[in-house]
Parts: sequence; C-alpha cells; structure tokens
Amino acid sequence: MTASPFPGSTAPQSTRCDRTAAWAALAGHFEAHGRDFDLREAFARDPRRFESMSLDAPEVFADLSKNLLDAATLRFLADLARECGVEAQRDAMLAGAIVNDTERRAVLHTALRAPPGSAPFGAEVHAVLDAMLAFAETVRGRADGAAPGRLRHVVNIGIGGSDLGPQMAVRALADIAHPGLSFHFVANVDGADLASVLARVLPSETLFVVASKTFTTQETMTNAETARAWFLAHGGTRIEEHFVAATSNVEAAARFGITRTFGFWDWVGGRYSLWSAIGLPIAIAIGAGGFRELLAGARAMDEHFAQAPVERNLPMLLGLVDVWYRNFHGFTSRCIAPYAHALQRLPAYLQQLEMESNGKRVDRSGAPLPFATSPVVWGEPGTNAQHAYFQMLHQGSDVVPVEFILLRQSSAVAGGISPEASARQHRMLLANGLAQSQALMQGRASADEPHRDFPGNRPSTTLLLERLTPRSLGALLALYEHRVFTSGAVWGIDSFDQWGVELGKSLGSRLLPLLEPGAASPLAADIDASTAGLLRRLRA
Ligand code: F6P
Repeated sequence: MTASPFPGSTAPQSTRCDRTAAWAALAGHFEAHGRDFDLREAFARDPRRFESMSLDAPEVFADLSKNLLDAATLRFLADLARECGVEAQRDAMLAGAIVNDTERRAVLHTALRAPPGSAPFGAEVHAVLDAMLAFAETVRGRADGAAPGRLRHVVNIGIGGSDLGPQMAVRALADIAHPGLSFHFVANVDGADLASVLARVLPSETLFVVASKTFTTQETMTNAETARAWFLAHGGTRIEEHFVAATSNVEAAARFGITRTFGFWDWVGGRYSLWSAIGLPIAIAIGAGGFRELLAGARAMDEHFAQAPVERNLPMLLGLVDVWYRNFHGFTSRCIAPYAHALQRLPAYLQQLEMESNGKRVDRSGAPLPFATSPVVWGEPGTNAQHAYFQMLHQGSDVVPVEFILLRQSSAVAGGISPEASARQHRMLLANGLAQSQALMQGRASADEPHRDFPGNRPSTTLLLERLTPRSLGALLALYEHRVFTSGAVWGIDSFDQWGVELGKSLGSRLLPLLEPGAASPLAADIDASTAGLLRRLRA
C-alpha cells in the first residue's frame, strides 16, 4: 500500500500498480499475445472489432480498434484500474479531498464547470464566473462601439497554464470569435514576444489581461511591467480601465495597480485553469453564452468520467491504454495529430497537461518508482505534419502511437473561401487523416526495395467530433484531463504538483545578477566551469 506521508492528505491509499495481480497478468499477457500482436490479423479474426472497440462519450466518438490490444488486454487493464483504486481516487478528487499531497491541496477544476449546488465551492465559483462573464460582455460591447473608447485588442500576458489553455481555445474557436477584436498572447520573457505585439496595438484600443495564478511568475511580472511602462509612455491613461488581472493573489495584483481582478483558488492547478478566470480571453472572444457552453461540454465529460464503468469510461480507457503502451510495450512517446487547423495549439497545451502532471519519478509517498511514467507528447496539425515527420512514424525504428482527431464537419467558413471550396478541402483533410491511420496499420511489403517497405502494425486512436464548438471543445479537453488523471492514478504519482520547474527558476535568479552590466566575474568555486565559460562569452 502507498500511504501519503503528508499531513492533511485525504487521498485514498492504493496498491502500487506493479504489485497488483492485474499487472502480473498483463505482463504474462504481453509475453504471450502482446509482443507479437498483429492488428491486421486481429481485424481478420474479428469482423466486429471496430464495433466492440469503439465507443461514444459526450461529444466524442473514439475508435480504439487500431490499437495493439484485444478484449483480454482491456479486461486486464480494467482490473488494473480497480486494483489501483482509480475509481476511489477519482471520487476523492471530485469530492474535494486533499489529493495533491505535496502541496496539501484539493484538486477541483471540475467544480468550475459544475452547476450551482452540485460541487464544492459552488457559491464562490458562480459569483466569479458571473462577474467575469459580465465583464467579458462589456468588453465585447466596447469592441462594437465607436471611438473614443472602442477596444480592438486583447493582450493576454501569462505563461504555462495561464497562456496555453486560453490561447489554444481562442484559436480553436476563432471562427465564432468577436470579429472586431484581435487576441494576442504574450508569454516569453524574451522581449521580442511582447515587442511584436505592442508594435501592432494602440494603448487606447487595448485591454491587457495579466494572467497569473501566483502573480509572482518572473516572465509574466516582467512583461506586465514592461507593458504598463509602454502604455504610459505612449499616451495611455486610466490603467484601471486597460489592465485587468486573473489571479488567486488579489493583493499582489492590487499592488501592481490593477483594481479589476477576477480571482480563483489554490485548488485550481495552473494547467487546469482555463475554466476559471484564466479563461477571460476565451469568454471575451466567444461571449458569455459560448463560455457557458464550453463549461457544459466539460461537465458532460465529467459526469461520464464519474459514472461510466471502467470498461465504457473513455478517459479511463485512454489512460489505461497509455499505461499499456508505456509500461509493457515500452513506447516512449505519443503523437497528437489534430486534422483541424483550428486545433494547432492543442499539442502544446497537451504537453503541459500531460508532462507537467505525470512527468514524475517518485510516488505520492516519495518512494522511487521502478517503472516508466509520462511519455513525451508531441504533434502538429495534419496535413502539415505528414510533410514533416510522418516519414518517421511510418518507417522509423521507433513505434509511436498516434492520436488522430477528426471533425465530421468543418468549422464555419472564415474569410474569403466559398462554401464549396471549404467542403471540398474538408473532404481532402478527412481522407488524409483516415489514410494515415490506415497506412500506419496496414503497411506495405516491398520485397526487393526495402526503402519502400512499410512495416505497418503501427497503432493509432481516432477521436471523432461532429464539429468544433465550445461544447465539443470543452468535452475534448476534459477527456484529456481525466485521461491524464487515470494514468497518474495507476502509477500512484501526484499528478497535480510541479516541483520539477523550481530548480531552474532558482538557478536563473542566481545567474541573473551575473549578467548585469558591471557584475563581478563568477567565482569558480560557486559555479561549474561550463556555465562560467558561457557567462564569460555572453558578457564579453
Ligand atoms: O512553470 C510552472 C508553472 O507554475 C505552471 O504550472 C503554471 O501554469 C505556470 O508556471 C504559470 O504560473 P502562474 O499562473 O502562477 O503565473
């Protein structure tokens, strides 16, 4: 049993996954049927494989049949989930238990999309939500109005979860965004990021959203200070009208000079925060009704996750297949291939969601784990990706499971292309997506020309959405959140802390003074020879 040594933890104890009977059964099953599993033979043996290995969850249809598994694999994986207490861990999280042990916090992003009265902290959540949505509508109204006072630009200043989620969602839903507003996302402490945005906006037409859970993050504070100085230097007046904050540190925002702050709570993790005040740019883009739809889609997936049995629970199944691939097949990465240009930032968003959550090497009690955890998650929209790295996916030496995301209907036509052209190009997009998963599985033998040989038997999952709407996007993102929860719960790790980012931050603070003009040379005793040598070159 893995017990938490952290006082206050109310996370249920669980059996370490590699000590369960199901893990041993999976290991035996892998040797007998997994290592040499052949997808083509599996489809030939079972004409109903597609029907039995696909399922409908809210807003998302999932085809798992092109994965390297059979009914027995799924049974053993469901047993593994039960033996590891995944359902009990899920219930504890949803009820507001302290499941983030190392930070001694509850994990309640699901409360942000729950109707009033159905989850902890409902009154607080809905008070902020209502205020934020009312403000979003005011901003939209000002974008409709005439000068002076007309807003044309929203600049979000934030990084990590305070950037990736809102940015991804605003781009995903761009076809229904307010047409009079441009959205900009500044994250990098590299001044080039902010400068390129400020070169395109006027102070009087711009709303800055300073988004930071902690309001201490170096990049965000620096960019916000530079933006404020630029605003004042370029004739901007009324900071209180042009700067707002989304943060759980209301006092720090006030010290910065921001009077309009939308708050949230320590039980919302940064990478799970787009449903909170951090979602303000999304709400401004798609309006209050759209934002409520986003929340409703996520809520529908939350209910599915909370209620469906493991065998029909899509987030759990995806998380369990991830465990199967990582720990038994030994695959080290997973490729995300959204066949929807609007989802271009989804892979980046998922990188933080999955790798910051599950990139851990000790369990919740701090004991080292003898098995692998988070895979590398990466990807780009198809079809672009086909012309970049799909060569490696088809013929490279590593097997990389691919996740195709297809939309049955294209988004509304934006800009100048005709409905006919849009429909025709969408058919091409779908044909490409289908063809890639088919090619990965089928392969093609070419006896006398090895360079033309496709080994095939390469796994993929296809997620199919009717179309991209706030509701379907909300469901898709909640699906990913709960899938990451599931693999983390099996591995017994704390998926909600992120201590791995701390060391680089503190070393950066120590190095910064050494780069200041006139700084003394670093003492060899304090610093390694490589870093000292690079510093000398940078200062020369
Ligand atoms: O880099 C670590 C991290 O804490 C992320 O988890 C978070 O999303 C990001 O920094 C930004 O943090 P904040 O919203 O507090 O500025």
